[in-house]
Amino acid sequence: MSKDNYTTTDAGIPVESDEHSLTVGPDGPILLHDAYLIEQMAQFNRERVPERQPHAKGGGAFGEFEVTGDVSAYTKADLFQPGKKTEMLARFSTVAGERGSPDTWRDPRGFALKFYTDQGNYDMVGNNTPVFFMRDPLKFQHFIRSQKRRADTNLRDNDMQWDFWTLSPESAHQVTWLMGDRGIPRSWRHMNGYSSHTYMWVNAQGERFWVKYHFKTDQGVEFLEQAEADRLAGADGDFHTRDLYEAIERGDHPSWTLHMQVMPFEEAADYRFNPFDLTKTWSHKDYPLIEVGRMTLKQNPTDYHAQIEQAAFEPNNMVPGIGPSPDKMLLARIFSYADAHRYRIGANYRELPVNYPKHAEVRSYSKDGAMRIHPVSDPVYAPNSKGGPAADTARFGEPAGWHSDGEHVRAAYTLHPEDDDFGQPGTLVREVMDDAARDRLVSNVVGHLRNGVSDPVLERAFEYWRNIDRETGDRIEQGVRSQD
Ligand code: HEM
Repeated sequence: MSKDNYTTTDAGIPVESDEHSLTVGPDGPILLHDAYLIEQMAQFNRERVPERQPHAKGGGAFGEFEVTGDVSAYTKADLFQPGKKTEMLARFSTVAGERGSPDTWRDPRGFALKFYTDQGNYDMVGNNTPVFFMRDPLKFQHFIRSQKRRADTNLRDNDMQWDFWTLSPESAHQVTWLMGDRGIPRSWRHMNGYSSHTYMWVNAQGERFWVKYHFKTDQGVEFLEQAEADRLAGADGDFHTRDLYEAIERGDHPSWTLHMQVMPFEEAADYRFNPFDLTKTWSHKDYPLIEVGRMTLKQNPTDYHAQIEQAAFEPNNMVPGIGPSPDKMLLARIFSYADAHRYRIGANYRELPVNYPKHAEVRSYSKDGAMRIHPVSDPVYAPNSKGGPAADTARFGEPAGWHSDGEHVRAAYTLHPEDDDFGQPGTLVREVMDDAARDRLVSNVVGHLRNGVSDPVLERAFEYWRNIDRETGDRIEQGVRSQD
């Protein structure tokens, strides 16, 4: 390596000046053949990639996942075998805000993980809440639009948000989480992460299990009250980004302990809630948490754009021993993310270092396209008799799946005995929250409803909350009306 530290062009050629453009005399016009000036201007104009549609504002860091328990009876996935350590990346985010929006707006938080395993990259793309606003992917796009900006004013609009929610009663569980303390974590270090979806695990004997992931923060769950979050939104819009970066810089490495809920495959059919409905949780009494291991974030990115903005998380990245479930939201996400990356970053997004497997060799037949980095070699087709890669069906040929049979329909999920939209949020309000948390919930909802929500949406919002919990609904109505 040379000890020189002079500026070069992107082609490595020494530049003549960092300060002066090439001109005809000191006061003369700029010359078009100042290739370095042109390079600077042209690169600058192309610095941004489109921001993520949802989850545009976020930050992240690198770390390690270490297995401390033994879940080999449930999965053969290499990264979850006893004692295993795996390099990983985490990105945390808000959902509705744009790239420069404040970190402390009330919103679910994204909890996206990429594990660089020996069997290829495994992505677990979750949130800080165990449920979601809807159970059918056809409604996701409409939901996100209702959270973002109106067509006319280009403003966010609480009336639009409550209009969608109150016409979508399945949102009640997630809205209760959102309007409660979990809606504004103190920092990303002080929140849990959940797969929310049910996934499948498969063990070495081919036995199948339904599972849910719970990453519990070792820093403790802490939240911000609305007034403090509002103040911070103005004083330091990057409060959570800064908190994570500074904690890691000072060696205060945040960690989360992964626990699983594991349901034997056959029990899904008769469970009291539909176990694939993303608006429902599984009772911890029915399926207690099993400890798996700990993830610790240790290393800040050195180039935010290359390592975080261009990071491409995709629920379709599943390794042997892990599979999807019949959750319709999850099945749609398996298509949606790679599609988003091809648009946002480009067809070869997986070739970028942050998205490229660090511990598995790529032997695919993909080739060419804009910005291909890793050269491919012949043969470029399969099957071939020229020594190219061939699928090892004997080892990997069993898809993680389940039996499906039926007419093509557009229909709601089959109801299980205790399935209803307001039952679990009612339990959350009455049994999980204490008096102080319920007071804050009421105050948060009252504040939100008083900010631009009018009839008939307002009336429907009172009814929605009364359906969750009569007393809470009455208090919310009183709170809104009393300040009229
Ligand atoms: C980001 C689609 C539901 C968690 C995104 C992005 C899309 C998307 C297109 C932007 C990806 C990018 O440009 O990099 C969908 C669809 C859903 C859905 C179609 C339902 C049908 C969910 C659910 C969760 C979730 C249920 C959590 C359990 C996330 C996270 C990110 C994200 C964490 C940000 C990932 C990152 O940090 O780069 N989603 N999403 N999404 N979504 Fe979803």
